[in-house]
Amino acid sequence: MCGIVGYIGNRQAYPILIKGLQRLEYRGYDSAGIALLNSNNDLNVYKAKGKVSDLVHFVQSKDTEGTIGIAHTRWATHGEPNQVNAHPHFSQSEELALIHNGIIENYAVLKQGLIENGYSFLSETDTEVLVQLIEFIKKSNNISLTKAVQLALDQVVGAYAIAVIEKGQPDIIVAARKGSPLVVGIGEDEFFLASDATPIIEYTNKVVYIGEEEIVTLRRGKELRIKTIGNVEKTPEVKKLEMTISQLEKGGYPHFMIKEIFEQPKTLSDSMRGRVNVEGDHITLAGFIDNKEKFLNAKRIIITACGTSWHAGLIGKYAIEEFARIPVEVEYSSEFRYRKPVIHPDDIVIAISQSGETADTLAAVELAKSKGAFIFGICNVVGSSIPRNTHSGCYTHAGPEIGVASTKAFTAQVTVLTMLAMMIGKEKGTLNNENYLKIVSELSKIPEKIKEILKQNDRIAEFAKTFTYAQNFIYLGRGYNFPVALEGALKLKEISYIHAEGYPAAEMKHGPIALISQEMPVVVIATSAGMYEKVVSNIQEIKARKGKIISIVTEGDVVVSNLSDYTISIPDTEECLVPLLAAIPLQLFAYHIAVVKGCNVDQPRNLAKSVTVE
Ligand code: M6R
Repeated sequence: MCGIVGYIGNRQAYPILIKGLQRLEYRGYDSAGIALLNSNNDLNVYKAKGKVSDLVHFVQSKDTEGTIGIAHTRWATHGEPNQVNAHPHFSQSEELALIHNGIIENYAVLKQGLIENGYSFLSETDTEVLVQLIEFIKKSNNISLTKAVQLALDQVVGAYAIAVIEKGQPDIIVAARKGSPLVVGIGEDEFFLASDATPIIEYTNKVVYIGEEEIVTLRRGKELRIKTIGNVEKTPEVKKLEMTISQLEKGGYPHFMIKEIFEQPKTLSDSMRGRVNVEGDHITLAGFIDNKEKFLNAKRIIITACGTSWHAGLIGKYAIEEFARIPVEVEYSSEFRYRKPVIHPDDIVIAISQSGETADTLAAVELAKSKGAFIFGICNVVGSSIPRNTHSGCYTHAGPEIGVASTKAFTAQVTVLTMLAMMIGKEKGTLNNENYLKIVSELSKIPEKIKEILKQNDRIAEFAKTFTYAQNFIYLGRGYNFPVALEGALKLKEISYIHAEGYPAAEMKHGPIALISQEMPVVVIATSAGMYEKVVSNIQEIKARKGKIISIVTEGDVVVSNLSDYTISIPDTEECLVPLLAAIPLQLFAYHIAVVKGCNVDQPRNLAKSVTVE
C-alpha cells in the first residue's frame, strides 16, 4: 500500500531513491514520484502515472541533482491513479513536498477548514490536505518544520507514514508514522528512510524502527532525533538487519514468484532450523516454551489473519484441534475487529501475517489486547508492527517475499503452526509419543519431498497452457486439503485474473455442481492421506458431468489418475503435512497459467503486497 523512501547525506539522492522505489514497488505500482532539493535550492518534484520505470523515463532529461530527496510508489486509495494524484504533493506555496503511505480519515473536515483559510487543491488525495495543513500551521505560527508536523499530526485521524522536505532547508527531512511502517537506516553521515528495510540493506545494516506516533528528524551530519507527537523525547534503538541483498534479487529467475516457489525447500528448512533437531525427533519452539502455561491452560484459541495467512490459519485450526484438543476459531481480521467478538482474558489470540503490517490484523490484535487476551504473532517480517504489538510469537523465517502472491510465506506459516500444535499436544499429553515422533520425522523430510515435486515444473508448465481459455475454475479438497483448495483458487485468481472458487469437496453437491460442464476445469486434491474414498466419489460426480479434472494425488495412485485429465503426483506423507506438499503444484499451476496469459505475475493489477489500509 504505497512505498516511501528518503535519503539525506553526501551522495546523489536520485539513484538511491529510484533503486529504493524499485525495491518497494511490490507495495504499490500505479504511479510514482520523487522530490529533490538541489544545490541551487530548487525543490524539483517529478511524477508519472504507472511504474517506477515510467518515472525514470519521464525524468530522463530533467535536473536530478541533489543530496536530499524523498520518493513514493503509489497504490491508489483516494483519487484515481494519475499524475496529479501521484506523490509527492506540494503545499500551496510549493515550499513543502510530502509523501504518504496510509489514509487520512478526517481529510474532508481538514480540507474544508483549509479552503476557508484560502487554500486550494489540485488533487483528489487525502495526502494533499496533510501537506497544506502542515504549511498552514507552520506559516501561521512561524515555527520549525518538525514542530509544524507535530501539531498537524495531532489533528489527524487515520494511518500514516510520511516524509516532508522543505525548500531552503537542505539539511533536514522530517518523517513520522502511525499505523504504517517506517524504518530509518543509519550510514556514515547519511540517513535512509523507507517503508521497509529492503531499500536500505545495500548501504547499511544499522536501522531504527520508528514507533507508533513518533516523529523523526533526519539532520545532515547530526544525530537522529525522535519525539512522540505528544512531545516526549525518545532514544533511538539501533537494530542490526539480518537480511542479504541476494534475497531481494531474482537470482536468474524470470519472476520473484517462481524464485520464491523454488526457494521453499530452503525456507522450510530455515523455518525448522533450531526448532526441529537434526535427528528429527524433537521440536523446540521458544515462543511456546516461554508461554507454556498459557497454552496448556487455554480454553480457546482464536486465529486472526487475512488472505493467504487466513488459509494457513485454517490449517492451523485443524492441527491444533487434532493434536492439542483446544477449540480454535479462525477469523478474518477485517470482520473480527468490527463485529464485537466475545474475547476472554484466558483466550489466546494468534495473529498470522507475512508482512506484519496488515492494517486489519493489526487492529484485531489491538482489540484482543484491550480485552486482556494473550496475543501470539506468527509473522515473517522481522521488526514489523504486528510482532512489536504482540505479547510473544514466532517468526516464520521465510526470508523477504517480494512476489505479491504469497507462496513461501504460506508454507512457512503452516510449518510453524504445525510445530506449535504438536508442541502443545505433546506437553498436554493429547498427542501420543508414537504419533509425535512419526510426524516430527516426516516434517523434517518435507524440504526434500518439495524438491521432488519441483522437478515436475516443466510438465505443469506444459499442461497449464491448455487452460488459458478457462473463465472459471473450481478447486476441491477435504479435511486439511480444504484450505489448500482455497489457497490454490486464490493464487489463480490474483495472478491470472481467472475466476476460481475453493470448496470442501463434499459441498459441491449442495450447489456448485450446477456449474460443472465440459468447459469447467476442476482441480481436486485427492491424496491418499485424508478421506480418499470420499473424494474419489466426488470426482466420479464431476466426471459424470464431463468436467475436466486436474488432480493432485499421492505417488502410485491409479484410481484417481485414471479418472483425471491431468495428474500431478506428490510424495506420501502424514495427513497434517499434506498441505505443505499439495500447495506446491497449485502455486506452479497458477504461475504458469498467468505467464502464458501474459499477466504481470509479481505485480498483479489492483493488488499490493502489504495492505496497510482498511
Ligand atoms: O502480510 P499478510 O500475510 O498479513 O497479508 C495478508 C494478505 O493480504 C495476503 O495473504 C494476500 O492475500 C496475498 N496477496 C495472497 O497471495
